[in-house]
Amino acid sequence: MDPAPGPATLLFTPEVRADPFPLYRRLLTEDPVHDTGFGLWLVSSYDACRSALRDPRFSAEFRTMSDYEETMVAVGRDTPVQALMERLMLFRDPPDHTRLRSLVQRAFTPRMIEGMRARTAEVCEGLLDAAEERGGELELMADLAWPLPVVVIAELLGVPAMERERFRGWASDLALAFDLGMTPERATRAEAAQEEFIRFFLDLAEQRAKDPQGDLVTALVQAEEEGDRLSPDELVSNLILLLIAGHETTMNLIGNGTLALLRHPEQLARLRDEPDLTPSAVEELLRYDSPVQLVIRFTREAVELGGRTIPKGARVMLLLGAANHDPARFEHPDVLDLGRGDRGHLSFGGGPHFCLGNALARMEGEVVLPALVRRFPDLRILDDEPRHRGTMTLRGLEALRLGI
Ligand code: HEM
Repeated sequence: MDPAPGPATLLFTPEVRADPFPLYRRLLTEDPVHDTGFGLWLVSSYDACRSALRDPRFSAEFRTMSDYEETMVAVGRDTPVQALMERLMLFRDPPDHTRLRSLVQRAFTPRMIEGMRARTAEVCEGLLDAAEERGGELELMADLAWPLPVVVIAELLGVPAMERERFRGWASDLALAFDLGMTPERATRAEAAQEEFIRFFLDLAEQRAKDPQGDLVTALVQAEEEGDRLSPDELVSNLILLLIAGHETTMNLIGNGTLALLRHPEQLARLRDEPDLTPSAVEELLRYDSPVQLVIRFTREAVELGGRTIPKGARVMLLLGAANHDPARFEHPDVLDLGRGDRGHLSFGGGPHFCLGNALARMEGEVVLPALVRRFPDLRILDDEPRHRGTMTLRGLEALRLGI
């Protein structure tokens, strides 16, 4: 493919962050398993992404990179935040991954999540009431998309209401560590947030060990399988993961989903008028503009993928956002069709790391998006050009001003 400038360089530019879909199309057409030439591969086709997600030769552990030490120093990642990240199930392979995931999964039950549906609706109505009282305008991200998932996950975890404000700041500072393109300033903020979180969760876990409640922190403190428990370090790291993984992602589902609906008024009308369409609508919105655009893997050995041979120790970006627009898998992929009825998108990943919170995220989307469009029949975009946050892994809006 014409290498000037190459897709990997383009991927990091603000223009492509704001709208990566033309680049995805080019990669899908010209080179779906693309070698950038510097140890990084970009995988855009649906089949190749899906198969790599399920293939144990693609590791989620940073240490599988052939140049791990140098890279961490070079990109400013040899920090305590990186050490925390490497303890998370998200970045671990079996057998550690299997053990951590099953302990957390035990506590994070479908019953617990369904039990939050009515409460999620109540929190959503409360936030919409507040916006309506202020009158005229809603800043979707600050007024709804950001606070709702924090309140829901904080209540599930059992974080006391008075602590939640502090939580918000820490959550966004620490979430920076999950994105590519770390700067020293971001690293300092993430580190300070990490310290606060650790102190906070260790305290909470200690309280719950003495005085159990019906919340997720209690369930995690008690989670045990064949005599195996989470160590305090693992407990705290994975609590942080639940909070971060579930927060910005769901926020972006609400933001990107609402923007897509407002840009397709006929689809918005379908969501408003056909309640049975809601689950399928949420799947389509997840596919159309995925909150998580990519995941990274590292090859444990040389692997054949889509007719190419990726060498051992390479970094591989699985471009989920591109795979979700692969015409070989989705007919008319750039058309938003809430009735598509296809849950095969890769927005929650796949294989052993398939999103542990998918049921919670889907439930939140199913509650919030119809509530918003039904409550405000004149909902409209006030910004000329809504601004994206410029992050790479997560795709979402900085702000979205809406007339109500
Ligand atoms: C729309 C919202 C969400 C999206 C798009 C999303 C997406 C993803 C993706 C793509 C992965 C796989 C990462 C990989 O393979 O490297 C993942 C993993 C994960 N997600 Fe989500 N997520 C969402 C919401 C949530 C929520 C609400 C929670 C929990 C509160 C959550 C918890 C997790 C956890 C714990 C993992 C790691 C699972 C593992 O490593 O086994 N996510 N998510």
